[in-house]
This record gives sequence, structure tokens and C-alpha cells, in this order.
Amino acid sequence: MSKLWGGRFTKKTDQLVEEYTASILFDKELAEEDIQGSLAHVTMLGKCGILPLDDVEKIKDGLLKVQHVIRRGEMEFSVSDEDIHMNIEKALIDEVGPVGGKLHTGRSRNDQVATDMHLYLRKRVVEFVGLLNKLQEALLEQAKNNIDTIVPGYTHLQRAQPILFAHHLMAYVSMFQRDIERLQDSYKRINVLPLGAGALAGTTFPIDRHFVAQQLGFDGVYENSLDAVSDRDFIIEFLSNASMIMMHLSRFSEEMILWSSTEFRFIELDDAFCTGSSIMPQKKNPDVPELVRGKTGRVYGNLFGLLTVLKSLPLAYNKDMQEDKEGMFDTVKTLQGALQLFAPMVSTMKVNKEQMRQAVNQDFSNATDIADYLVNKGLPFRQAHEVIGKTVLYCIQNQKFLLDLKLEEFHQFSKLFEQDIYKVLQPEQVVNARNVYGGTASNQVSEAITRAEAVAGKTNEWFEQFYNKSK
Ligand code: ARG
Repeated sequence: MSKLWGGRFTKKTDQLVEEYTASILFDKELAEEDIQGSLAHVTMLGKCGILPLDDVEKIKDGLLKVQHVIRRGEMEFSVSDEDIHMNIEKALIDEVGPVGGKLHTGRSRNDQVATDMHLYLRKRVVEFVGLLNKLQEALLEQAKNNIDTIVPGYTHLQRAQPILFAHHLMAYVSMFQRDIERLQDSYKRINVLPLGAGALAGTTFPIDRHFVAQQLGFDGVYENSLDAVSDRDFIIEFLSNASMIMMHLSRFSEEMILWSSTEFRFIELDDAFCTGSSIMPQKKNPDVPELVRGKTGRVYGNLFGLLTVLKSLPLAYNKDMQEDKEGMFDTVKTLQGALQLFAPMVSTMKVNKEQMRQAVNQDFSNATDIADYLVNKGLPFRQAHEVIGKTVLYCIQNQKFLLDLKLEEFHQFSKLFEQDIYKVLQPEQVVNARNVYGGTASNQVSEAITRAEAVAGKTNEWFEQFYNKSK
């Protein structure tokens, strides 16, 4: 079989070179986008009088037939046709004859592949907003069910101050909200059309780039033809956003793994999301969060891989850029897998409220509040800190908690203590005392949930609107 670009060559390509340079084994993933772009391109060629409308119709019919074959999984992709673009063009010519060879008029694979990537990623970005939105909904549901669940809050992984479990979950809602907004913002840089840039300098044919953009639902076209074919920023930006999402998921994973250990027993993951051990019959392992934590590494790797491919690369297209694909596909697959599992894993997670409560009763996470209590009685905070430090030390030495101390014992450390100290020390009181915007007091958390639900509703509207636009 001769090459589509074979005219200038007198020798066959070396078999190993063919295999080494081909991308078809992975870029066949772009088949839908490639045909979508070609249909818009050829329609424009007809509209601009560059091709007779008769030819345009034949080419379109042929493309749709090829699309059908591919969708049925019956296309035989060939390494000797190098990539998805030439495989499809070859199949088109086989289907409609030499007229198929007119499709590539005024176009290069350089602007074609860039267009495919833009079409591909904008769909994925919208889908990821949708998946993050589902995860937020699962978190909001759990937060509402745990609006009265008190749990130790940690710094340095040491018990610090009691908080509502709902408050902890809502921190993740905020983190995923930033992820959603980053993806939404990236959409405007993805949704720009490179086609019409030709190989690098534009084309001699009187094409209409804006018409193509309009047909494909792009908001605009690249300003500069060289930039259009050289730019992979939008992929790097996606890989970076994906890395941030995975980083968030890995932190949540780590907490779930800790919380479901016998040492914590704060939560129990549903059986459907855990696996057993082949030797230890008692084991129930949190494989899903562990794998998400582990797979974060490859997503970071894909980001650094592409950043490095692009480093120092001269304009415009270089074959190096073919290396933009596998990492991106891998990241898409990895992120999809993680997000699809996370929402149901959160929804079905059992929260052991009793165990959380017990943990709170057996710690000193109310110590800040008695310091504040003394401050309210007029003692400078530094001195109050010192007094309570000594009180806690006394408790540790005598195996007691603050609520176990008698008023006389408190008086050894300060005469300012009165009977009302016992109320101040109650976990509910400690939590509800943090009644600032964004704090853990239950009315604050309830309001935060209401606000987040409204924002999630807006995200859902955005998703519905952009889902169809991105197709
Ligand atoms: N398979 C190539 C890629 O993915 C398509 C662009 C090829 N352009 C070229 N001039 N060789 O990057």
C-alpha cells in the first residue's frame, strides 16, 4: 500500500520506523473528533466555492460511512497509515474514490490534530465537571446526615479542637468547587479553533475559519497560525487541573484509609468498595482509596512528561508533539475511574457517630476553650495558655480529662474558674462557640450547606448547558 505522502520517496519506509513513528494504536481514540472536524472542514470548502458541492456531498457521505464502520468496531486500522488522520482519509478514498483526496485541501495534519485534541478535551472537561458535581452532591448528603456528629479535628494529626464531621466534609466540597471552577475556566482556552492554520503559515485557499468554528461550536479561532499548531498549553492546563483533583482525592483517600482503620473506627466503607485478603480471612481492605492515592503519581507524571516534551521545543509542529496523547488519555481514564467510584463510595460510607463521640470525650481538644474562658474573665491569653497547659499536664499525670476535674482541682491552677466551666467544656458548646462565618458552629455549617447546594445547582445547570454544546 502506498503512502498518502509517498510521492517524494523512492524507497519503502523501514518496517521498524513505521512502527516507531505510528500513533494509530493510541490516537484512534480521536476517530469521532477527526470525522467531526473533517465534516465541518469539507462543508466550509463547499460554502467557499473551493470544492464543487457535488464533491462535498460525496465526501460527507463517505465520511459518515467510515464513521459507521468505526462505531461498529469494524475498521481495520493500519500502522502503515501512521495515524488516525491518514487511516480515515485512506478509508474515505477507498469508499468514494479519488474525490476523497480533495478533503485535505487547505488543511494540514498539524492543524487537524490540534483541532481533534481541542474537540476531545472540551468534552472531557465538561464530563469531569459533571462527575465532580456528583461527588459534591454525595458529600453534601453525608454532611446533612452528620450535622450533629462531633469528631476530633486534627492539626499535625494530633487532636486539636472538636468539629462537626459535616464541617470536615464541607472542606472537600470547597476544594472540589475550586476544581470545578478551574475546569470551567479552562474551557474558554480549549474552545478555540486551530483549523485553518495549515501546516504553520495559513493556506492559499480562500477558506472561512470562522464558519468552521461556528459549525463546531468553538467560541473563536486562534489569532496566529504558528501558535495554533504549536500550542499544547490547553493540554498541560488540563493535566495540571487533573493533578490538582487527584491531589485532593488522595488527601481524602488517606483520611478514609485512616478513619476506617481499627485504630480510628470512624467510618466503615461499604463492602462493595473494599476487597479481602487471600490469606488473612479477617481483612477488609480499602483498596479503592489506596489505588486513588497511588494513581495520583501517574497523573503527576503525565503532567511532567508533557511539560518536558514541550520544553525548548521550537515552533511550530515537531514530531515530539505526538507524545502529547498517551499521557492525556491515561490521565482522562485514571481520573474518570477515580471520580466515578468516589461519589458512590462516599454515599455508602457508614459513619460511626458513637466512636467519633467517644474519641471527642477522651481528649483535650476542649483546652483552647478554657483558655478562652479565662481570657473572658480578664486573664491575658498568654497567661491563660500557661495555666491550661499546667492543668492538662496535671490531668495527664493523674489519668483524667478536663471534664473529670473537680472545681477545687481547677482552683489549684486559677481562682477564676467557676461552676460554669463545665458547660464551656461540653463538646457541643465547644463546637457551637465557633460561630463565625466559615466556622464549625452547627448553624454556620447548616448555612454553608445551603449555600453550597445553591452553587452545586448552578454547576449542574452549567453542565446541562455545556454537555450538549461540547458534543
Ligand atoms: N500523528 C501526528 C500527531 O499526533 C499528527 C500530526 C502529524 N504531522 C506531521 N507533520 N507529521 O502529532
